Amino acid sequence: MSITIKNTEDITKMRIAGKLASEVLDYITEFVKPGISTDEIDKLCHEFMVKEQGTIPAPLNYAPPGHSPYPKSVCTSINNQICHGIPSPKILKKGDIVNIDVTVIKDGYHGDTSRMFYAGEPSIQAKRLCDITYECMWLGIYQVKPGNTLGDIGYAIQTHAESNGYSVVREFCGHGIGKVFHEEPQVLHYGNKGFGEELVEGMIFTIEPMINAGKKDIKMLPDGWTVVTKDRSLSAQWEHTILVTKKSFEVLTVSKGTPLEPHLFKS
Ligand code: MF3
Ligand code: CO
Ligand code: CO
Repeated sequence: MSITIKNTEDITKMRIAGKLASEVLDYITEFVKPGISTDEIDKLCHEFMVKEQGTIPAPLNYAPPGHSPYPKSVCTSINNQICHGIPSPKILKKGDIVNIDVTVIKDGYHGDTSRMFYAGEPSIQAKRLCDITYECMWLGIYQVKPGNTLGDIGYAIQTHAESNGYSVVREFCGHGIGKVFHEEPQVLHYGNKGFGEELVEGMIFTIEPMINAGKKDIKMLPDGWTVVTKDRSLSAQWEHTILVTKKSFEVLTVSKGTPLEPHLFKS
């Protein structure tokens, strides 16, 4: 298989799926505070998707080769968890940071997005990690235009993360997306300028950097899904689904509650 180029109809439907995914995050925002369990977050998101939106939660029973079916409707990754945290009875406590990753299917098309949330006031270090990771995602997005390469995206992300003393997770990456949840290309969050596949109008893929406060090494928990930092340092992640347009990019996972772009070049 190779990278699919989306047609007008695909793009229209991907805009709808992307907006719906983002609206799940808007909906859950007010509930994310100390005292709620990640199971409750999952349940609320599940009901909203199925009952209010008429969408299908793509993670539920998702079973890529070598994996047991994913048992929940969203991923909730807390503190030192990097990604694919499985919702559980575990209760969020004051100062926790949590990534909620939502993928919906609407009319056969996928929208995939995640944000970081704070349960109460985060530590200065935790907030800084979340902010820099958000900037990393956007610096990757700003590289998206025809003629640039996947390596340009990875380079921009890696440079910003490492110049702030952080590290980039290597084992997981962004991905092409459409009628299929994970398709080509793999969008690495590290790399070299000018290397890798050239971007072409009509490609759609996610950019979803996982940035660790400590070392880049990961560990898989016995549940076969939850990925944590080997050194137990904090990790953050943000994700958007992006369309390559004629001149630049369009973020498809947008809704009323989408956070503003970062102020990157303030002096
Ligand atoms: N939403 C994740 C991504 O960004 C994938 C989650 S797969 C699951 O690609 F099975 F863990 F839900
Ligand atoms: Co994704
Ligand atoms: Co995702």
